[in-house]
Amino acid sequence: MSNSLLTIQTAEKKSVKDQVKVGLGRAFSILFNGRANELANLPTSYPSGLVDKMLMAFLKEKARVGNDTDFFEQLHADFWQGHGGEVFSSNCDHRFDDLFLNHQAHDLELLANFWVKSECKHIVEIGCCSGLHLQHLTTLLHGVESAIGIDINPSQIKANNRNPKFDSRIRFISGDGGAWVMENAKPNTLFVTNGGVLEYFSRHRLNEIVNHISTNLGNAMFFTVEPVAADYDPNTTIESIPFGEELSFSHNYRDLFESNGLNVLHQRPVDFESWRMMTTIASTNS
Ligand SMILES: C[S@@+](CC[C@H](N)C(=O)[O-])C[C@H]1O[C@@H](n2cnc3c(N)ncnc32)[C@H](O)[C@@H]1O
Repeated sequence: MSNSLLTIQTAEKKSVKDQVKVGLGRAFSILFNGRANELANLPTSYPSGLVDKMLMAFLKEKARVGNDTDFFEQLHADFWQGHGGEVFSSNCDHRFDDLFLNHQAHDLELLANFWVKSECKHIVEIGCCSGLHLQHLTTLLHGVESAIGIDINPSQIKANNRNPKFDSRIRFISGDGGAWVMENAKPNTLFVTNGGVLEYFSRHRLNEIVNHISTNLGNAMFFTVEPVAADYDPNTTIESIPFGEELSFSHNYRDLFESNGLNVLHQRPVDFESWRMMTTIASTNS
């Protein structure tokens, strides 16, 4: 295993500086109990001022140890709605060529074959960011009738909607991808995530979303490319565990789909830079 891959251990290990922050945060949580409760209920990724910064360091560590998945889900949503989501594409769009096109051609070829057999007509990408991946799938897969890209970052969606380069079948919508699927998804849809999106959802919410699709939509497929911790063993656990610097979730994707009524047609990890990316193709049909 390469040392640079993100792990559960990365999240557990604390430098002396981090330990001091957590310790100060613990003391501040007694002194500023009201503010600590506010931040526990509505965590921020952008704390300003010493007290909030130390409190957030303490609250994140407390949530990690106590496995408070709702806290992390709110924290991640706050991060992606704000500046973190605005700048992601300019820092990370190189992954589309360097990782996706260069290292995942095999997965894409299999997806194209399953798509033809599936009779799916629609694509929904959650966390579409700058839309590169959605544009590629919409023009690559045969006979796509509609494609919707949803992202929680409103600035990114505004930029996509102003950009004339996209195929006319594509529509971009700003909002929470999970809520959108629960309210709007149709049968015969391929649901897509790429480069890490489901890692920001709690397993509880993912169960609701996948279960809704398999129970109520009939024909559907998933194509998900999600980072998992390099020290996460899906053969021995189905628990979702915070990992890496971001404290996103390492999920057991096979279990997520199979326990919610889908068949896993293909699964393969690819290591790239600091990520172990797990591709999963799952379907309501075998
Ligand atoms: C790590 S980036 C991946 C972006 C893109 N798919 C890629 O491969 O480059 C995560 C993306 O998911 C979006 N996102 C995070 N949580 C979301 C949610 N609950 N609903 C919709 N989009 C979300 C973020 O705004 C961001 O664009």
